[in-house]
Amino acid sequence: MKSDFFKYQAQTTTHPLAMEISHANGSYIYDTNNKAYLDFVAGVSATPLGHNHPKVINAIKEQADKYLHVMVYGEYIQKPAVELTKLLAKHLPYPLEKTYLTNSGTEAIEGALKLAKRATGRSEIISAHNAYHGNTMGSLSVMGYEERKQAFRPLLPDVRFISFNNEDDLNHITTKTACIILETIQGSAGFVESINGYLEKVRQRCSEVGALLILDEIQPGIGRTGKLFGFEHYNCIPDILVTGKGLGGGMPIGAFTASAKLMDLLSENPKLGHITTFGGHPLIAASALATLKEITESDLMPLALEKEQLIRKLLVHPLILEIRGKGLMLALITPSADITNTIILKCQDLGLILFWLLFEPKAVRITPPLTISNEEIIKGCNIILDVLNTIQH
Ligand SMILES: Cc1ncc(COP(=O)(O)O)c(C=O)c1O
Repeated sequence: MKSDFFKYQAQTTTHPLAMEISHANGSYIYDTNNKAYLDFVAGVSATPLGHNHPKVINAIKEQADKYLHVMVYGEYIQKPAVELTKLLAKHLPYPLEKTYLTNSGTEAIEGALKLAKRATGRSEIISAHNAYHGNTMGSLSVMGYEERKQAFRPLLPDVRFISFNNEDDLNHITTKTACIILETIQGSAGFVESINGYLEKVRQRCSEVGALLILDEIQPGIGRTGKLFGFEHYNCIPDILVTGKGLGGGMPIGAFTASAKLMDLLSENPKLGHITTFGGHPLIAASALATLKEITESDLMPLALEKEQLIRKLLVHPLILEIRGKGLMLALITPSADITNTIILKCQDLGLILFWLLFEPKAVRITPPLTISNEEIIKGCNIILDVLNTIQH
């Protein structure tokens, strides 16, 4: 299968990991030689309940027996999508009440940006250096990493960049600004958290000038940081909240949520302000609903904070300069990209899956399923320490 993979399936790099997958269960992924790999990545934060979680699989199977796609988004009343959006609203602060379901995170970002323009009648969008919001043209326009977007210009006009956590830059948000879009915790930049009340100050500035605040919680959202949404750690409620990844429980999804007043703007002047065929797909919404129920009804969120402490306690080594992030969204910062590469590749050989971050070459991603056990954490951390001990420093 490997040669067909390289021959027929389009690649994103010249050197994909190319592990040939047989099946996956709990915190483990198995290759076609039946070698078990402990998963410290969770499909890049997209499988919060691990692999093959019975509640998720049953929800998908039950829905599959009823109906799959029946109509484009928004026309028919389909129970999984209605229940999912209602449950999201139940767990969100007022006025975040109405959710638009999309097929991917980047599409939800596109919808959020469009909604901000439509609502304010303004065109300027402000984003942050080193931000990642997805790969379609709008999301790429607000990506704060020139090297990866230059080849695709021209992109959206009227996009300005500020530095995350730099309060002086907030002056750039003005009455011309439609919206500022930020990741609540910057992911690709290296799991950079907001400090000194920065997000609160962004919120205040937006309210002063009538700009909308979009928080991208596609990665930190859905329990990964120990709370359902990352913004709950700060005193900052966005005007538009974007989620995705873990919400789907292993199925492709994106979502943006706003007040009813804002969201209703997408259905008139012009009507069909954002449309999609498959958004809110019943199988995916059923999977997401089961996932969201499990995360909000279990103790997985408080446990994520305890598991963070366990990882921080175990992973002490001279080659780990810092552990960034919150809950089970953690990044080890090593002295060099070479050391990071060695850790990730050697750990894979030893049966532990780790991964990179997009823009911080010294970071090792640790974003396991929230369901990972303490024993599995200890096992994985010991593999990392064993590999670190083989590296000269
Ligand atoms: C913060 C953030 N925003 C947006 C996206 C894009 O989501 P998707 O890959 O589902 O389009 C990602 C995906 O990695 C992300 O981490």
